[in-house]
Amino acid sequence: SGQINVSLNINGQAKNLRLEPRTTLLDTLREHLDLTGTKKGCDHGQCGACTVHIDGKRVNSCLTLAVMAQGKQITTIEGLAKGEELHPMQEAFLKHDGFQCGYCTPGQIMSGVACVKEGHATTDDQAREWMSGNICRCGAYPNILAAVREVAN
Ligand code: FES
Repeated sequence: SGQINVSLNINGQAKNLRLEPRTTLLDTLREHLDLTGTKKGCDHGQCGACTVHIDGKRVNSCLTLAVMAQGKQITTIEGLAKGEELHPMQEAFLKHDGFQCGYCTPGQIMSGVACVKEGHATTDDQAREWMSGNICRCGAYPNILAAVREVAN
């Protein structure tokens, strides 16, 4: 019925799926793999709630087809912690109250990790600019920025 085989590497695990070719990575994660930490906000590349990493670079998974991610390393929010040990960015968000309702938080954290790793968090302005694609309706921006900057320093 038009479905194709798609092989993905997600958080270090190989996943073999049957998908419609046009299935987004976001829907694949949430609806086919039960990885619901990655959120669907706008579904149009405007909010950042769906941010994941592909080969360490952040992407909006709502704008990425699952087939385009074959042969690459996909990391979601579920893959950040090492067992019981949270990623430093997760610890920093807790410490600085970098969330209110929490809906945007997984995307904020994935963007924050990429921000620091790629060297875009050396000043407040630079980090704010890099993180500007991640919308927070609660307006937790100062605390999010504080968390990102702490990890960068
Ligand atoms: Fe992908 Fe909003 S859900 S950017």
